[in-house]
Amino acid sequence: TISDLVDAWHEHVVLVFRDQDLDEDAQLRFARQFGTPGERARPPERRPEGVDYNASIILITNVRENGVPIGSLRDGEMWFHHDMSYTEAPHKGTMLYCMEIPPTGGNTLFANMYKAYDALDEATRDRIQGMRALHIYDFALTERVDLSGDIDRYKHRIQPIAVTHPVTGRRALYVSPLITARIEDEPADESERLLDELFQFTEDSDLIHEHVWRPGDLVMWDNWCSCHARTDFPETERRMMRRCTILGQPLYE
Ligand code: SIN
Repeated sequence: TISDLVDAWHEHVVLVFRDQDLDEDAQLRFARQFGTPGERARPPERRPEGVDYNASIILITNVRENGVPIGSLRDGEMWFHHDMSYTEAPHKGTMLYCMEIPPTGGNTLFANMYKAYDALDEATRDRIQGMRALHIYDFALTERVDLSGDIDRYKHRIQPIAVTHPVTGRRALYVSPLITARIEDEPADESERLLDELFQFTEDSDLIHEHVWRPGDLVMWDNWCSCHARTDFPETERRMMRRCTILGQPLYE
């Protein structure tokens, strides 16, 4: 069964399992069928879940107890990004489990980055060959990172603009508005122009799936060939999700 699921995952990029009832251990047990669960990037003393909480799990929630946040990536909209693309070995996959969801909004959008690459015109595909870009993350949800200060404050990594998926061998565009900040060896204005062009995939409904959550949904996605975003939702409504990831490897063009 697992081998069938792995094949389906590689073919379809995002898998949805409805009506699950998973505690943390069960979610991690399932994740281990596909690899080794990754640990989160945020240092323990900065985790709202507390220093003793499982380092492989993030509570993604806007819920506050006595006004104090109990989770991360809390409120409202979040721009498109690949999880952990600012690290040396971006995690291969993510599993997000839904416990509570607002009546409207808080949907997760998945962009198929194979299709984003295929949708580029031939001249652009030729042009980005061999190009690399800075991926950097400061834990904001809807802002580009300000590169004017010392970038060593934040985790960052140079990645190819297009990657070859290590398993499927297919090419995928590997940039996102939240985390890709600058193209290497290009003047700033040209880097911005080209990034704007590459970020057009975020508007292309042909390659985006919008997942409308139900409690009990477990969604797993391939982080090497998709990126994801979140739609806004009312701050007065509770949203509670639990996330774990699967360790990955360096990505090459
Ligand atoms: C995430 O980026 O991992 C969170 C997505 C979501 O909250 O829908």
